[in-house]
Amino acid sequence: MIVRNSFVAGSLFLLLLIPKSCTCEEMNVSTGYLYKKSEADLLAFPMNVAFLAAEFWLICATGCGMDVFAPELVKGGPPPIGGQMVNLDPLTKNVTLQYGLLAIGVLRATKDVVEVFPRPFLNITKQVFAEIMDQSFEQTLEPPFDPYASTLNYQIASYIISLDGPNLYPEIIPVLQKTKFKELASGIEGVAFGVKNSIRSYLYECRDMLVPPYNVCVAEFTNRISERANKLGKEGIKSEGLVVPKSLGADRRVSGNVIEADKNSLSYRKSPEEVLRIQYGTGNQCVPGGFYPKGANGRIAKYYLNI
Ligand SMILES: *[C@@H]1O[C@H](CO)[C@@H](O)[C@H](O)[C@H]1NC(C)=O
Ligand SMILES: *[C@@H]1O[C@H](CO)[C@@H](O)[C@H](O)[C@H]1NC(C)=O
Ligand SMILES: *[C@@H]1O[C@H](CO)[C@@H](O)[C@H](O)[C@H]1NC(C)=O
Repeated sequence: MIVRNSFVAGSLFLLLLIPKSCTCEEMNVSTGYLYKKSEADLLAFPMNVAFLAAEFWLICATGCGMDVFAPELVKGGPPPIGGQMVNLDPLTKNVTLQYGLLAIGVLRATKDVVEVFPRPFLNITKQVFAEIMDQSFEQTLEPPFDPYASTLNYQIASYIISLDGPNLYPEIIPVLQKTKFKELASGIEGVAFGVKNSIRSYLYECRDMLVPPYNVCVAEFTNRISERANKLGKEGIKSEGLVVPKSLGADRRVSGNVIEADKNSLSYRKSPEEVLRIQYGTGNQCVPGGFYPKGANGRIAKYYLNI
């Protein structure tokens, strides 16, 4: 059965579930898919971000990605394009390898509980990061931002990579029923936010530093990147940079913002749709792009690619 959007406009419940900003005028409701995503689909979805993060961090640290570190997990998915080993300082290199291996661990742990799809085709060329940065600053940066040029640029790129994935878990966990699923998701949640906050802590220490050759400080980079995510996500403020107005700071009393949290000091929740809108860079979960030129994998992402 095909239902036109205008037909269902009377029902707030249905309206809320119509994909935001899909140009597609029609949606297939006979599958019932939008109404209740399966728990397994919800648990598998964040693995798109885990693949992206694993490849980015492993390649930055070592020059090799999952095809070397965990070929059994890629399930025939094509290798990513454009990743580069970065001339990282020794501490950052050491920590980055840990992040990459943690992402592999998360993929493996998830695979032991639900079926995980093959690795999506990932575009981690420096051009993708440059486009994200141009969108963030709403102007063309000269020279284009290069995530692989230095430790600091890499750390800012890591801020982008770690921005959305962890926040899927506070969204997903409340709807899970099975104990085994809840154990997996809460276990991953802690690690995912751990990595995100480790990156934020590094950047917080150099928040006032100007990022060469731009006359812009680290904090401003993070604020702009987060504002871009909020615009593309279309669900209000769900991402905050490192220095914010006091009204957004901890207990609304400080502007330093090393840990991102809502007004009650709780983690923001991001839906799969929101994460797709941001990580595709298109503001539309039906239109792939950015890190995923052919779209993300799994039933949730494919649903939007096929309507
Ligand atoms: C809607 O979904 C049903 C069930 O999967 C399928 O048989 C049907 O072909 C779909 N209709 C369209 C127009 O995609
Ligand atoms: C990272 O640091 C730890 C602790 O100093 C050290 O044992 C380990 O060998 C380092 N790893 C790499 C890959 O350099
Ligand atoms: C990767 O992204 C860049 C920047 O958007 C784009 O120019 C390039 O065509 C993309 N590559 C593929 C294979 O999609």
